[in-house]
This record gives sequence, C-alpha cells and structure tokens, in this order.
Amino acid sequence: MRTPVSDFIERYAKSGISRFHMPGHKGKSLLGIEKYDITEIDGADVLSTAEGIIGESEKNLTSLYGSGKSFYITEGSTTAICAMLAMIKKTDGEKTHILAARNVHKAFVHGIALLDIEADWLMPKESNGILSCRVEKSEVEALLSSSDGKYSAVYLTSPDYLGQMADIKGISEVCHKYGIPLLVDNAHGAYLKFLDESIHPIDLGADICCDSAHKTLPVLTGGAYLHISDKAKEFIDTAREKIALFSSTSPSYLIMKSMDICNRYLSESFRKELAKTVERVNAIKSFLSEKGFEVYESEPLKIVINAAKSGYSGKELSEMMRCAKMEAEFSDDDYLVLMISPKNTKRDFSRLKKFFGKTEIKAEIKRDFKPLPYPVREMSVREATFKKSEVTKTKDATGKICASVTVSCPPAVPVVISGERITKEVAEALLYYGIDEIKTVIG
Ligand SMILES: Cc1ncc(COP(=O)(O)O)c(C=O)c1O
Repeated sequence: MRTPVSDFIERYAKSGISRFHMPGHKGKSLLGIEKYDITEIDGADVLSTAEGIIGESEKNLTSLYGSGKSFYITEGSTTAICAMLAMIKKTDGEKTHILAARNVHKAFVHGIALLDIEADWLMPKESNGILSCRVEKSEVEALLSSSDGKYSAVYLTSPDYLGQMADIKGISEVCHKYGIPLLVDNAHGAYLKFLDESIHPIDLGADICCDSAHKTLPVLTGGAYLHISDKAKEFIDTAREKIALFSSTSPSYLIMKSMDICNRYLSESFRKELAKTVERVNAIKSFLSEKGFEVYESEPLKIVINAAKSGYSGKELSEMMRCAKMEAEFSDDDYLVLMISPKNTKRDFSRLKKFFGKTEIKAEIKRDFKPLPYPVREMSVREATFKKSEVTKTKDATGKICASVTVSCPPAVPVVISGERITKEVAEALLYYGIDEIKTVIG
C-alpha cells in the first residue's frame, strides 16, 4: 500500500527548502520531530477537501475498512462525534431528537449542546455502574414504534470503557426498519475490523461511526477516523463540511503521517500480530480467572477486572501495578481496566503474569451502586450549558440543576447531564464516583 502523505513529508524534510510558511519552528528542533510537521503547502493537499495525497491516503483507509467513505480527523473522536451529530441534525429548522444509550462520552453532551439537539436516554438496568449500558433490541423497537417518527437517529457507545459490546447488528436492523440511522461511538474499537471475523460497527450494520485510531492502533494521539457505511451514502456529500464545523483549519501533518503509515501496517502484518495478541490476552484472562479474579467478558483487547470482588479497589491495584513498572488505562473503586495492543511486548505480558501471580485474592469489598432512576430533565442541555453557573458541593447540591458535566477523563462518562435535576439518588451516585463538586445553574 502506498503512503503518499508520509512520502511527501519525508521528501520535504530532506529537501533543505527554506520554509517561509507556518509553523514557526521552520522544521528546526526543540522536540526532534519538527521537520515532519508541515502545513498545507503546495503538493501537501488540504484535509478539508482532500483531493491530492490526503485524498489518496483516505481512499486507502476506505478500502481497508470497506466503508462507503472514511475520513481522517486529527482532533480525536471528540470532533468526529460532534460531526456525526451535525450530520443527523434536521435541516428544516425543526427540533432534532436522538435516542442514546446513557453511557455517552462527554463529547456527545457537548455536541448536543452546541447543535441544540435533544437526547432521550436508554438507561442501564443493571447496577454495575454508569460506564456500561446494556440495551436490548426489543427496548429500542418499543421506543421507536411508539415515538411517531420523533427520533432522527439512535446512538450507541460500543465498545464502552469496560469493553462491553452493544448488539449493533440487532439494533441497526431495528433502526433501519424505522428508517433512521444508527450512529456508533467506536472510539475504543478501530482494531475490530482486523479480527479473524470483523466485528467493526460498519460491518455489523451501523451507518456512521467514529474510531479513535490512536486508542488501539499505533497512531499518534488525536488521530481518528469517521466512517460512513456504503449503505448510508446520503451522508457522504456533506460529511466534510460537518467535520469542518468542529475542526482546526491547521490539521496536524504529524498525525496524518502517522495515520497514513498505519494504513500500510494494517494492510500488511497487523492482522497476524493482532490474532497473536488476542491469544496472549485470552491466556492472561484465563490465568486471572483461575487465580480467582473476576474478569469481565469484554472486547478482545481489554482486560477488565472487578477489583472490589477480589478485595481491592481498582485504584489500589493500579497503584500496586505502578510499583511493578506497569501503568493501567483506568481504575476506580470498582474496576481496573487494562488496554493491550500488538505493540505490547513479551516483557509487558510477563510482568502482568508475574504481578497477578503474586497478588492474593482477599475478601470481597461490598459495593452498593443502585441503578439511577430515569433523569428528571428541567431544561435543555443547551440552555443549562450556557446559563450562568456556580460550583456547588455535591453534598449541598440536591434539588439544584446540573449546569455542565463534571467528570474526570478517563472515563468521561457523566453521572448527571446538563439541565437535569440533581436528585438525592444522583447526589449519592456522584459521591460514589468521588465527585464532590458540581457546577449548578444559578437562578
Ligand atoms: C467512549 C469514548 N468516546 C469518545 C472519546 C473521545 O475520543 P478522543 O480522545 O479520540 O477525542 C473517548 C475518549 O476517551 C471515549 O472513551
């Protein structure tokens, strides 16, 4: 596979040309990589139109994913999520409504605030926290059949932070029966296309999805894809202008170079390396289960341990791992989440095995998270987001209205969303997640 963006930058870096253009570093080193950091000079194409080398590289990406069209984004899935929402916003001035599984990333909440979209929520039924939200196809069917065409799209996050996968196939069939698209936040699943059998959202029936290439592929932070299925071609023509609404006009060529070279890697050795990595991860998961750790069934490249069940908090385990020269992706009082990729080495795996081999299971720490009741909406997300607000101690916040989503990143999944009443249950849930201050609407 050709790597036109990378080749152009390499040639330019070696050319000795005097740079009378941005960026101000002129290719000279403070960091060591500046020579590759160029701008949209002659021959370098323009990401927002992509008719030259970037266009060619995006065609490579499109063929790798078998989509109708795949686009590069250099500001993460955060921008891709806003662009997806802009694509389904009604054009006739009528209010747009979307039906979304509640475990959205905060980018979704910011997107609907900026675009003035209203969301109705599919709430989690299980009491295992806010990070996952299992949605049954029948639930979506029941809501769509009784909503009289209210919704412009359904939105799912899959895989979620705990590696849970949604029933994209089933739910996309329901969406299509009611003539609306399924949007998927696949930030954690760019690699899913390259498993022995693809379980990438586009192959399962999603119409539009975003992948954070940087989360699971060897791509620089910020690199993301927006894919449109070939069954949803009506979204292709306006996609670039919607992406541009939320993007910088100075996209990073370093990130595009990295995505361009990654295409070649995906087309060559990645599948084989991925299959081997999945085997290694499965072996570690079995080892952990045999030791007595409760390992969540999850997407292939995550290891999710219910730490509390083994007598630890997730944070305690991650601190212990840090002392053994390992850094986890995420931990809270309940869970420890590890993200693996083919770039993890044999040494990484043996450190993991040695560490958990020595870690004894203790008596379960009882945790009690009650599923949240359906949220009480007092004003729109947009109205609350842009109203005057103040910081309130969570213990004093009962009865007030949430102004902005207060969540740490990761996992950036909100307990309460702008415009919702902070009930006693919500305040308890915020405290459960260690959020002791929240922005509330004044007046
Ligand atoms: C589920 C989910 N969606 C979206 C995002 C945003 O992705 P990015 O960091 O690529 O902007 C994240 C980031 O952590 C995420 O976990």
